[in-house]
Amino acid sequence: AAHDFDVDNRTGFMPPQAPPSRLPSEWEAWELVLDGAIAEGLQLGDKPGLSEVEMGRSESWRKRVRELPVLPISALVRSETNLRRAHLVLAWTMHFYIHSLPPDVPVVIPSPITIPLFQICTQLQLPPVLTYADTVLYNWTLKTPSHKPTPALDNLQSQTLFTGTNDEQEFYLTSARMELRGVEALELMRATMDEAFVGDDLAMRRITTYLEKLATVIDDLKTLIATVREGCDPTAFYTAIRPWFRGADSDPAKRKWEFEGLESDPSWAYPSELSGPSAGQSSLIHALDMFLGVDEFSHSAALTGSSAAQTKKSAFLVRMQLYMPRHHRNFLNHLAANPRPLREIVTGAGDAKLLGAYNAAVGALKRFRDYHITIVTSYIIQPARRAAALRAKGEGEATAASEGAEAPLKGTGGTELAKFLKAVRDRTAAAIIES
Ligand code: HEM
Ligand code: ALA
Repeated sequence: AAHDFDVDNRTGFMPPQAPPSRLPSEWEAWELVLDGAIAEGLQLGDKPGLSEVEMGRSESWRKRVRELPVLPISALVRSETNLRRAHLVLAWTMHFYIHSLPPDVPVVIPSPITIPLFQICTQLQLPPVLTYADTVLYNWTLKTPSHKPTPALDNLQSQTLFTGTNDEQEFYLTSARMELRGVEALELMRATMDEAFVGDDLAMRRITTYLEKLATVIDDLKTLIATVREGCDPTAFYTAIRPWFRGADSDPAKRKWEFEGLESDPSWAYPSELSGPSAGQSSLIHALDMFLGVDEFSHSAALTGSSAAQTKKSAFLVRMQLYMPRHHRNFLNHLAANPRPLREIVTGAGDAKLLGAYNAAVGALKRFRDYHITIVTSYIIQPARRAAALRAKGEGEATAASEGAEAPLKGTGGTELAKFLKAVRDRTAAAIIES
């Protein structure tokens, strides 16, 4: 069954082997165009002070994209890994295309991208936009060949990068390492659910131990997320890396994305999902929420006022499931259908140790989210303030025009980030069960 969900018992939501780094030769033209974007050192279209030469090189790369043949995908559908690679290549190329455009030029995605991308998206049940899977789950390889069943956390490198910088690579690899550390969390969840079916005293003692271990795994996730500070510079992230991720809902110029070739298949509609990649698409964190029942305690009397409205899973996180590989989405649905929810067991058992262990796991997840907010403060909120201050002093040219001064700050996933992240954190805190 684990296989149907494409969840590996050694690598979790990451594939057990490094994903292919190239499509078969029939689709070499796509790979070459993506190579070209990287070789050109394509710049953000709204980067201040771009030279005529840079703008010319950027436009001639986009011309190459427009002149690509519309390659058929029929021979691709036999291989899931090639389909994923095709989504990755076309989505990266599309983001290079859109975000290298000057900000006053309409966004029109050419049909050699649109047509195969929409076909692939139908197969994979994914939106036609760059995802967490395209940047993290399916975007790595081993630094040094190894036969270990699980890649060592320090033996990963990214395949594709917008900027070619180590900062960008470390941003993706931080998530990748967390996914690998999270494998133990998945094991503990499974073991807990098995014991829940047994349901006797011994089972309760085992579940208690599993939850205590789970708390330490979640603490490790917090330690790992902190390591992003070692390799990824906040200013580089904010000004040079993050703007490449923007989805249709976080374009400061508010341009509508037009898909040329959309009309060529009557079954296609304008996509309803075009948010940029966000670790909010990590199935691991969704699985933890579901397992711990962070989303399902809307009856709690402890909640009052504004937080009461936030007890249900946020619309954003529900939406982010549409961006996950479909097998992982199925896995989460399977978890959600668990007939013996952990919270019910914990509240029903009247066992202080079990309750303490449950609360320790929820507490660790809450602390993880607290720490994530401090990261978001250093990587988005503070650089945005610095950029706004420079603009106010009339030195705006000195920084990338990556964010409008007046609009509320948005995440690449499109949320009003500060408000959203605090609400998710508070919802986690409210899952603690008072004894
Ligand atoms: C959500 C920023 C690293 C996990 C978000 C959001 C922002 C953000 C702005 C709000 C959603 C959106 O609109 O995109 C950052 C920054 C990071 C970072 C600046 C590092 C520099 C990570 C890492 C993970 C992670 C490494 C771990 C896999 C999440 C999760 C959410 C989220 C799970 C959804 C909200 C939640 O469940 O609490 N992030 N993030 N983030 N991020 Fe991060
Ligand atoms: N979701 C992250 C951001 O908004 C990547 O920057």
